[in-house]
Amino acid sequence: MNTRIFTKETVEKVGETVKVAGWVHARRDMGKVMFFDLRDKDGLLQIVCVPSDLGDDMERAKELRSEFVVEVEGVVQARGERQINTNITTGTVELLATSMKILNKAKTPPFEIDKDTTEINEELRLKYRYLDLRSARMQRNIRERDRIITFFRSYMHNNEFIEIETPMMMKGTPEGSREYLVPSRIHPGQFYALPQSPQQFKQLSMVAGFERYFQIARCMRDEDLRGDRQPEFTQLDFEMSFVTQEDVLQYTEKMFVQLVTELYPEKKIASSPFVRMTYAEAMEKYGTDKPDLREDKNDPNELAFCWIVDFPMFERLEDGSIQAQHHPFCSVKEEDKEKLMKGEDLLSIRANAYDLVLNGYELSSGSIRIHERDMQKRIFDLLQISEEEQQRKFAHMLEAFEFGAPPHGGFAPGIDRIVMLMMGEPNIREVIAFPKDGHAKDLMMNAPSPMPDTVLMDLHLKLDDEAKQAIDEMKGEDNS
Ligand code: AMO
Repeated sequence: MNTRIFTKETVEKVGETVKVAGWVHARRDMGKVMFFDLRDKDGLLQIVCVPSDLGDDMERAKELRSEFVVEVEGVVQARGERQINTNITTGTVELLATSMKILNKAKTPPFEIDKDTTEINEELRLKYRYLDLRSARMQRNIRERDRIITFFRSYMHNNEFIEIETPMMMKGTPEGSREYLVPSRIHPGQFYALPQSPQQFKQLSMVAGFERYFQIARCMRDEDLRGDRQPEFTQLDFEMSFVTQEDVLQYTEKMFVQLVTELYPEKKIASSPFVRMTYAEAMEKYGTDKPDLREDKNDPNELAFCWIVDFPMFERLEDGSIQAQHHPFCSVKEEDKEKLMKGEDLLSIRANAYDLVLNGYELSSGSIRIHERDMQKRIFDLLQISEEEQQRKFAHMLEAFEFGAPPHGGFAPGIDRIVMLMMGEPNIREVIAFPKDGHAKDLMMNAPSPMPDTVLMDLHLKLDDEAKQAIDEMKGEDNS
């Protein structure tokens, strides 16, 4: 009995008897002879079923329908010159089946998955995501994502970084958006927050002396969704000690140039070194801090990277209050420190904060951080965070800065956006295996979902009338 091989291996095994397994992709009956494409992780292999070779199993072959799972043994044959199919990896060979087993049957899929599923109703695609993911484009997107992440991991390791896992259950980070909360059962009335990013942990890792940290980090934010936003997303989060802004920019730029030249040599970087402009220049010239600098916006291979530097430290909200434009841990420009100390003209104070923009998308944000307690306190004071609140929320940061915190800074490119742009996809859902829909719902598992009263009681939670009514309405819809 042969052990099963992957279809791509068949091209090296002409004349040998092998066993392959996978899904029935498409089937063609030509009178007595039947062909079908068998699909495995590598792609397609043509299987030829002839009664004289397949014997009794020919009956079984006739039962095959799309997406049945089969195991086939047979002899690998070279295809004739004119039969070679250059569109598939196994296009020079085919398998003459000598025996076949149906491992599982399949219902007719709710949409065709042997074609590009872009035009299929997205709700249906998300409900049957495991089927959508079988399509060639989605397989490619998820596999490319893995290649990109693998590139980043090894690039980081080759440059003295180590990956550190930071907690998913933490105390809130003040990074602008609303947090997802996790109720504590054993501490009634208390909650963990899911990280919006590992910002505080990565800074504390610098205080801890790791000097170069990175993490393929999952972040959670309860914010309005758009094509380039998901409630859960992934960052290549990193932080370095004893660096200047210039060091972080140079390191990052080199990494992205290498990513493109190694993984996507067909793409061209519009300007190297990347274009650089200040936030003020970008706003004046383009009216946005994420300008799309491509010369030809229809060229799928053009990559126009652009650095935006000198972001304002503060911004004014509609209600008149002042908040940190990026986050309150950014350091401010040396030239603007006097204004900061005097508390004057706050909106003109610039932070050592920078973004990397690609083709009009914000790919990443970062900054050189504050590492001195007094300066951090000054920012909190200017943000009108009361002494009591500073202690409650940030005592750990303020305290850590008193124990020899090194100067440090970092960056956090969004992996989903990078993969989306490399693959030329219009939104990040296309490059996330199991994304949420535009209403933050998982349509396949049906999450979020109501919980039994007993579970809520254990967690010391009670629903208010609005929530009860919403759940009743939902149940009504389900029954109708
Ligand atoms: P920021 O909040 O700017 O910075 O996020 C950094 C990058 O993460 C990506 N991103 C998202 N991707 C998908 N869906 C979302 N909802 C989403 N939100 C953000 C973007 C963005 O540029 N801790 C800081 C980084 C730092 O200062 O080092 C931070 O998280 O690509």
